[in-house]
Amino acid sequence: MEKKITVLPGDGIGPEVVTAAVEVLGAIAQKYDHQFHFAYGAIGGVAIDQYQDPLPQNTISLCEESDAILLGAVGGPKWDHNPADLRPEKGLLRIRKHFDLFSNLRPVQAIPSMLKSSPLKEDIVKDVDLLIVRELTGGLYFGERHRTENEALDSLTYTREEIERIVDNAFTLARLRRKKLTSVDKANVLDTSRLWRDIVDEKKAQYPDVEVEHSLVDSTAMKLITAPAEYDVIVTENMFGDILSDEASVITGSLGVLPSASMRADNFGLYEPVHGSAPEIAGKGIANPAATILSAAMMLQYSFGLLEEAKAIEDAVAAVYEKGFFTGDMAPKGVEALSTNDWTEKVLHEIEPAYVKE
Ligand code: NAD
Ligand code: IPM
Ligand code: MN
Repeated sequence: MEKKITVLPGDGIGPEVVTAAVEVLGAIAQKYDHQFHFAYGAIGGVAIDQYQDPLPQNTISLCEESDAILLGAVGGPKWDHNPADLRPEKGLLRIRKHFDLFSNLRPVQAIPSMLKSSPLKEDIVKDVDLLIVRELTGGLYFGERHRTENEALDSLTYTREEIERIVDNAFTLARLRRKKLTSVDKANVLDTSRLWRDIVDEKKAQYPDVEVEHSLVDSTAMKLITAPAEYDVIVTENMFGDILSDEASVITGSLGVLPSASMRADNFGLYEPVHGSAPEIAGKGIANPAATILSAAMMLQYSFGLLEEAKAIEDAVAAVYEKGFFTGDMAPKGVEALSTNDWTEKVLHEIEPAYVKE
């Protein structure tokens, strides 16, 4: 198979973790005889520095010509006081909107060899296998906003169409899993949530084999860490999904392992870790590349339909953990942490012992 992948390393640890994921894709290409062509573009703070724009037109054009996008992370203290449109995060929001990447899939699975690293009890986390389906192109992130010296406004709007497509998507994904859907909202307070809840109820009839529950976001935040194994698919609006997915990283022991896929209806997608640019560890070569490597696996699965190849990456990551190799964010007490590069080498070796870097 021949595919064009646009790589947007971004800021902070972004370039470090993306380099690791590109190498892993290279090993997969070599082993399974695919051609992946990588084209690099700027987004976020580095794009502001170079083009005075967090998402320059040449980056958009590169992405339009490609089959999928791999992104590291954006943001950092250098740009934290920039005006709203010149912030690195704005580049991320714009690329999501431009490509209509409305469905953000954030899977969370307990890693057997990591159960002891989770701050939660082993019994609570051991059977966790859930998928957060986060609406990504609506809600508070894209509402009308304004700011004066003494007043600020962010508005939360959802249309029926926006809710219907993400809810349909979540029902469809639940069908392929354990057939349980939890819709998370704040329907006791918000009108957008009440519309959301009505639409989920209307849709139920089309998916009679899926068990549906509604859950308020505040108590869901509590249950997600007291009884996470009860969840299968969670569908929720943009902001709630952002917060709950970082919370869910406690289950795996680190934010550094959570991947994500941001999908358009036709399976074009942007793949990026759930975590950010981690400025305090950037440049040290110690970031955990697992989330980005696993995001690359999601690309193979969701955009390219390469299921065996995707599984080869997931199995390799699992095997490396099983053998007791960790980066610093996950290494149990007394176990020496590997650098980003050394840990990635272990993954490459699992995928293809004969892999030769080009
Ligand atoms: P963060 O996710 O960057 O970091 C949170 C914590 O997790 C830090 O302690 C960090 O060191 C650690 N961490 C994160 N990823 C790690 C990894 N791969 N390996 C080891 N440790 C890791 O969140 P933050 O500190 O709140 O935000 C920093 C910047 O990142 C901000 O500018 C924010 O806007 C941006 N951000 C970007 C994205 C994105 O690009 N998708 C996502 C979240 C935050
Ligand atoms: C994420 C990030 C982004 C978000 C920020 C950087 C805009 O936190 O991808 O989870 O809030 O969506
Ligand atoms: Mn986030």
